[in-house]
Amino acid sequence: MNTLIIYCHPSKKSYTYSILEQLQTLFAQENWQVAISDLYAMNFQSDMSEAEYEREGFAKIDLPIPADVKVEHQKLEWADCVLFVYPVWWSDCPAKLKGWFDRVYSVGYAYGHRPQMQPMKTIPFGAVICTAGHPNAFLEEIGIAQSMQTVMLEDRLGKRFEHKEMLILGGTLDLEKVRAEHQQKLKELALKIKTCCG
Ligand SMILES: Cc1cc2nc3c(=O)[nH]c(=O)nc-3n(C[C@H](O)[C@H](O)[C@H](O)COP(=O)(O)O)c2cc1C
Repeated sequence: MNTLIIYCHPSKKSYTYSILEQLQTLFAQENWQVAISDLYAMNFQSDMSEAEYEREGFAKIDLPIPADVKVEHQKLEWADCVLFVYPVWWSDCPAKLKGWFDRVYSVGYAYGHRPQMQPMKTIPFGAVICTAGHPNAFLEEIGIAQSMQTVMLEDRLGKRFEHKEMLILGGTLDLEKVRAEHQQKLKELALKIKTCCG
């Protein structure tokens, strides 16, 4: 099975990085192939240029798609499972990952399909794994958990993925309270992926 992780955090000392490491361990146990788009390490360009806007904003699909975006398209076509791993920053993903969606979800590929362009394939499994300082109960109480779920699962993953899951790994301000529960959630997710497409 081919698993692509879109990972977005600037520091290897972070808790989110330890989540990435746990996923790699779980997937290695299954002998799954893993590719990682580490957006900070790649220095992924998250800003849309004016030339790109000309293409995306006006659906001029004959205009060229940048080389770095094409590479991400190739990774998506290779993947049976895609995981987005990031910390919650101001109730959303970090700007760099938002820029990945802005640029990689090209018109004619990820939406707005045209007969002259091969559309993005439907990927069997998509998962969003985000760490959050606030506990899940609080994020649910103020409606942020639901809004993040709606934006990520209904819009950004949308119909591009057959099965979709979102794990909000909250409560990281008191890490020792939640660490074991988070580890268990990751194991359960790996099992779901295996059941679905392993
Ligand atoms: C710029 C910034 C914004 C943040 N915004 C939120 C937020 O809106 N909601 C929340 O629960 N936690 C928020 N946090 C806390 C992070 O989600 C939390 O520190 C992260 O999940 C785990 O930390 P680490 O991976 O950076 O070690 C924010 C942290 C930073 C640095």
